[in-house]
Amino acid sequence: MIQKTPPMGWNTWNTFGYEINEDLIRTTADAMVSTGLLAAGYNYLVIDDCWSLKERDANGRLVADPQKFPSGMKALADYVHAKGLKFGMYSCCGTLTCAGYPSSYDYEFIDAETFASWGVDYLKYDHCYKPDTTPSDLLYRKMGLALANCGRDILFSACSWGVNQTHEWIKSTGAHIWRSTGDITDCWQKIKEIYDLNVPLQPYNGQGCFNDMDMMVVGMHGRGLAGVTGCTDEEYRTHFSVWAMFNSPLIIGCDIRDMDEMTKQILMNKDVIAINQDPAGRQPFRAGHYGCDTWVKFLEGGDIAILIVNPYDSACRGTLHLADIGLDVASNKAIKARDLWSGEDLGIIKDEILFPSVDAHSCKFLRCSIVNR
Ligand code: GAL
Repeated sequence: MIQKTPPMGWNTWNTFGYEINEDLIRTTADAMVSTGLLAAGYNYLVIDDCWSLKERDANGRLVADPQKFPSGMKALADYVHAKGLKFGMYSCCGTLTCAGYPSSYDYEFIDAETFASWGVDYLKYDHCYKPDTTPSDLLYRKMGLALANCGRDILFSACSWGVNQTHEWIKSTGAHIWRSTGDITDCWQKIKEIYDLNVPLQPYNGQGCFNDMDMMVVGMHGRGLAGVTGCTDEEYRTHFSVWAMFNSPLIIGCDIRDMDEMTKQILMNKDVIAINQDPAGRQPFRAGHYGCDTWVKFLEGGDIAILIVNPYDSACRGTLHLADIGLDVASNKAIKARDLWSGEDLGIIKDEILFPSVDAHSCKFLRCSIVNR
């Protein structure tokens, strides 16, 4: 299975943490359909940590906690599949999961078979309680091989937080996405920190194995496990724009059964999603190194995406000299730009894109086609 575009979906952890159960999964599956999220592309529903019993069964197999999941995982997967969604689960490469449940160390092949037998389509694979004596790359390769031989296509979502030089070996493991950084929380400082850490990792990003910046906090407004101060709608919009531009999986972390209108508008902006899901899956690059941060991505078919982001705490000048992306006077070309958040047509721009003042923590996101001058 080759991962052509970043996966999109929802995960239990950010909001619900330990407090997960069958009813939450079913009602969330229903909401993914009724809110339009599935139609917008969000098709994976992922159960994170805390789903199993603390002991394996007599055959060494993982067992879903019967109090939380009385119908069992196979029946739940069937329910999720019947909604047109895909079903994701979680394990870990160490001796315990991060929350202290049984983990897949030395059980990789048997666990991959169990997940396949339940109808799992996506496995998030964490890095807690890893024995010091076994290197991370070996453990991820082992699970990569187990998944490739389990008889079912399962998206392998590696979650080693970028430690032990993950970027150097992750593509050899069979992982389709890799967590490049630590855990997100619902506050602007954390979003900025994850952005900063991902800037130098863009050379490792692209089709086949995308950098995963973590589940999004859009719409959490300070609620749930990862909730802290919450963010403004403007900050959530910038967060979503950066995740989209950087080819991150778009995995929602808020309670989608209770989203406000603005959250829906952000998460279901078709034009922004199209930049994330661009079929070419190219890495974005930084162009221009003054004022706001300007990022460019060359899209399938010749269009370009331009994200001018202000991660700083005061307004900045948003600018891009078109010569810096190859559209100099000699090219005789200009761009025709559309603002993806306001929907406004910005007309034909020659030589320089200029937004004299971009507010702190906000952004401008453009999709441009190339035209003659
Ligand atoms: C962390 C991981 C989180 C979540 C949590 C569960 O290591 O980065 O995304 O899965 O474990 O315990």
